[in-house]
Amino acid sequence: MKKSIVFSAIQPSGVITLGNYIGVLKNWKILQNNYNCIYCIADMHSITNKINPKLFKKNIMDNVALYLSCNINPKKSIIFIQSHVKYHTQLCWILNCFTYLGELTRMTQFKSKIKNIFNKINLGLLNYPILMASDILLYQTNKVPVGKDQIQHLELSKKIAKRFNKIYNKKIFNIPEPLLNNGNKIMSLSNPKKKMSKSDINKNSFISLLDDPKKIHKKIKKSFTDIDNPPKIYYDIKKKPGISNLLLILSNLTGKKMSIIEKEFENQNYSYLKINVINYITDTISDIQHNFNIYKKNKDFLEYILKYGSKKASKYAKKTIEKVYNVIGLYYL
Ligand code: TRP
Repeated sequence: MKKSIVFSAIQPSGVITLGNYIGVLKNWKILQNNYNCIYCIADMHSITNKINPKLFKKNIMDNVALYLSCNINPKKSIIFIQSHVKYHTQLCWILNCFTYLGELTRMTQFKSKIKNIFNKINLGLLNYPILMASDILLYQTNKVPVGKDQIQHLELSKKIAKRFNKIYNKKIFNIPEPLLNNGNKIMSLSNPKKKMSKSDINKNSFISLLDDPKKIHKKIKKSFTDIDNPPKIYYDIKKKPGISNLLLILSNLTGKKMSIIEKEFENQNYSYLKINVINYITDTISDIQHNFNIYKKNKDFLEYILKYGSKKASKYAKKTIEKVYNVIGLYYL
């Protein structure tokens, strides 16, 4: 039986965070065993925000090296940069013509992104979900591992695909399904009501996989802790979002169940918990950084992986584009 196709992507708008690692990359690594996985660096999505060109280029390559350092295996999975496969933007234009304005202006993420911009809203922000649909639909994807915040975008991708198939009465696109990861969403260290994000302006709110031990120490020490008297350690996202976030990090990095972790820290104080969190994060990150430093020194190898990845991805994407051209009546040469 042919393995199902998994597609996912991370934007290189910053260096991959501990939150990305726990919520996404660890899961990507496991998925490689049961699916044909395509893992993309969504650079075209990132330019919907203001970026610093030099830093952007660095972040892109650092993130490629980090994918590899987190054991995404280029022999098993396709690793590539979105802008290296021209079919993404090509399909995006076509799908623009099959999407309604109202569908895009209704997107929750769009509405929240434009909240503080009163004019000069770039169209990339509006069209963002269509580019994402193109990413997914190009590869006849079966499963998309996404967090809850991207479900609405995935739903729109499905809607566009179904609409397109219906108009031409042909199965041009496979209808993708979400692969919800099991709720291990790591929150911001300074405001545990928000998701940990690499593009947060408050640098203390996230841990980057390239932070040194000193920075990790500082950030965890400073992290938000809930006020109660006497301070108790237990998992309850509503009552104790800060402590629960730290416990969740620990449970993920140690592989221990939350009930076991809670027992271990039952009669301890916050500072003891934080020291443990710091130690586990430092250990995990130092393994990743060890690999990273080797990959980073070998630019030729990274470029080779990317060329190989985009060539393979292009081969699949081209098949879909050819079908799309033919069914629409565009002339395919
Ligand atoms: N929009 C996603 C995010 O910000 C990244 C992304 C781009 C993506 N293309 C995708 C995720 C396709 C899944 C599938 O998290």
